[in-house]
Amino acid sequence: MADNRKKNGATPRADREPTSSTAKTQLQTQIARQKKVGITETALRDAHQSIMATRLRTEDMIPVAEMMDEVGYHSLEVWGGATFDAAMRFLDEDPWDRLRVLRKKFKKTRLQMLLRGQNLLGYRHYADDVVVEFVKRAVDNGIDIIRCFDALNDLRNLETAAEQVKKEGAHLQLAISYTTSPFHTTKAFEDLAFSMKGMGADSICIKDMAGLLGPAEAYPLVKGIKERTGLPVQVHSHYTTGLAAMSYFEACRAGADVVDCAISPLSMGTSQPATEALVAALTGTPYDTGIDLSRIVPVAEHFKEVRENYSKDVVNLQGIDINILLYQIPGGMYSNLVSQLREQNSLDKLEAVLKEVPRVREEMGFPPLVTPSSQIVGTQATLNVLVGERWKVIPKEVKNYFLGFYGRPPAPVDEAIRRKAIGDEKAIDGRPGEHLPDELPLAQMAVATWALQPEDYLSYVLFPAVAKDFLPRKFARATYRDVGFGEAVDGVAYPL
Ligand code: CO
Repeated sequence: MADNRKKNGATPRADREPTSSTAKTQLQTQIARQKKVGITETALRDAHQSIMATRLRTEDMIPVAEMMDEVGYHSLEVWGGATFDAAMRFLDEDPWDRLRVLRKKFKKTRLQMLLRGQNLLGYRHYADDVVVEFVKRAVDNGIDIIRCFDALNDLRNLETAAEQVKKEGAHLQLAISYTTSPFHTTKAFEDLAFSMKGMGADSICIKDMAGLLGPAEAYPLVKGIKERTGLPVQVHSHYTTGLAAMSYFEACRAGADVVDCAISPLSMGTSQPATEALVAALTGTPYDTGIDLSRIVPVAEHFKEVRENYSKDVVNLQGIDINILLYQIPGGMYSNLVSQLREQNSLDKLEAVLKEVPRVREEMGFPPLVTPSSQIVGTQATLNVLVGERWKVIPKEVKNYFLGFYGRPPAPVDEAIRRKAIGDEKAIDGRPGEHLPDELPLAQMAVATWALQPEDYLSYVLFPAVAKDFLPRKFARATYRDVGFGEAVDGVAYPL
């Protein structure tokens, strides 16, 4: 492992807390023993992804890094999710450079990332060689904690990534995609968490991307998972419905070890509950965060200014999104449905589509409504209504879902609908990732001309179209040579 790190030219280890297996065990014991509730600050990843379209630049993170490093957060979520794509696509920034810069600045605080299992940070399943290499490079460049999840909670989609996180000696957090359905009982989530423990999880995250988790559910869920697994439990939610802060408080009462919060200027709305409010609410209780509010003030002041500078990117959700409470669908999905219908001049059908979504979801085996299943279910529901006959038109993504390419649905699917979608074709029954041939050799050929670091191959596999624009620009800047696009070999396509 040490060899590997050297070879890859990583940040000197002296600069940061090592993620050796001893340190990792210490970290686990520390989380398990501490009475205090830890805070993961999401300002540098989920908060700006949720509230300002992932547009925050590294240069606006650097001035506040030292102050943030002094606060005493459990960890900082700084990478993964949409940040990777957005950095190259919109900001002309190398996401790997950002990680290295942040690693240098944060000398005391653990850095955390979000990884969508076999999807990594992209929109399809990648081959195992890509997943392995990606995890290696992420840890190598400075990530301490990797939170892995799968949209369908199909643990097979987490296997390769999880195994590699363990091999790298980083902290493996396996996350449950939280949703509600007759099949998603507390008991079912406890079972899932127990299986995650079997996969080597160092902690469990309850990941509630839609803000559906209410305080009444949070308490038994956290308590149940902790009792069943004995592992530290972290709760991640979004403020979209207005429930999250209440749910966090109940989660803490039930023994949650860490909760995800965002510094106030980037908090609430579609983002996380405000760090300052949680710190204040828990002060003097048995769940005290140990964080001194006065240390967060300068951090908040910085981000207040940042928010103003980025005002054109800021999503301004006033108050809460009652549609999620009414229809149990995530805010992003709701706005997608509205814009799809508006394009078709059929906004009057919104009510019908909103009623169709839960029906389609049930027929498809109650997938959690998160990317990509939210788009798949949403598109089918819209088609069912607009065509005027249910399941008459079925897009390729829906067929692929029934064929098992995304993984196993959480509950049995409707047999008649499945037949309509894929006829007698048999769904794959293995792990979706095992059907994919290695992808790195082709990528290495494709970007050999502009590669300045081995990480560039990964950037290309994940986002070929974006990287084909970005990498030559970066190459030209670094070498003062302009190598044209004509030499690109576009061997990588999106099958899903
Ligand atoms: Co989130």
